[in-house]
Amino acid sequence: MSLSLDRLHGLESLEQETLSGILDLAEHFKRVNERRVKKVPALRNVLIVNFFVENSTRTRSSFEIAEKRLSADTLNFNAKSSSLSKGETLIDTARNLQAMSPDILVMRHPAAGAPALLAKHVDAAIVNAGDGWHEHPTQGLLDMLTMREHKGRIDGLKVAIIGDIAHSRVARSNIFGLTTMGADVHVAGPPTMLPPGLNTLGVTAHPRVEPALEGADVVMMLRIQKERMGNDLFPNDREYFRYFGLTPERLTLADDDAIVMHPGPMNRGVEIAPEVADGDRNVILEQVTNGVAVRMAILYLVAGGGQMTQER
Ligand code: CP
Repeated sequence: MSLSLDRLHGLESLEQETLSGILDLAEHFKRVNERRVKKVPALRNVLIVNFFVENSTRTRSSFEIAEKRLSADTLNFNAKSSSLSKGETLIDTARNLQAMSPDILVMRHPAAGAPALLAKHVDAAIVNAGDGWHEHPTQGLLDMLTMREHKGRIDGLKVAIIGDIAHSRVARSNIFGLTTMGADVHVAGPPTMLPPGLNTLGVTAHPRVEPALEGADVVMMLRIQKERMGNDLFPNDREYFRYFGLTPERLTLADDDAIVMHPGPMNRGVEIAPEVADGDRNVILEQVTNGVAVRMAILYLVAGGGQMTQER
């Protein structure tokens, strides 16, 4: 079977076979990353621009490491010191970058839909590194890889996603990916952070955290996306922690072997108690490690390596 991907804007349209194939390939690259010599020549002569117009620690670093491990040529576009600050539009900026013939643009932007918009104006393949509240597909993939490693499967897992669902691109990509893979997804948060129509996405929504946690195999905590809220949607951080924070007591509701995940950045004492964030059930830094392997797999596929992969 060949696995091909000419871009990655989101997980919404990807089929189960494609998602599984990407995770299999990411496992292969994870083994490469465990070797003494971690660099492979797969993307030699491929130029990748990391076009980040919103801050990032994990995603940006891991894309850059993934590119270096694959021997790609890379350019890190710095939005703050660019001519965007002089009034140049996003599209003009991207067209100027396109004039330097990149093969792939890895793009993060605060506006939902920005990667799809740019794709109409540039020839380079766009890989979405997070667009507003819309999607964060490589995060969804690295989360699923982490779940599959720990649980041996995704199909049938009860996954509780707790927090600011309405503004979370991580929640949306996980919902799309996990439901396609057959997981039983429960979301919980204050009613002001649960968008309408969640049931049409195939998830069960709860205005309280406890029913979502009961018997969960995976507990994924989300940060409150204050930068994407018009008004405060809850009284204060202390109130939020009291009703929705993951404490050691609340975690006892989940399965005894449940894993605790968080995409980062974490706000300790708001959505997660420090002792849970550092506890023996957390796999938060494993998620970060898996991010490099997943991004290697995506870049490899988008650069056209899928046929070779399946023959390996
Ligand atoms: N998970 C995530 O997207 O983190 P960064 O914003 O630091 O990239």
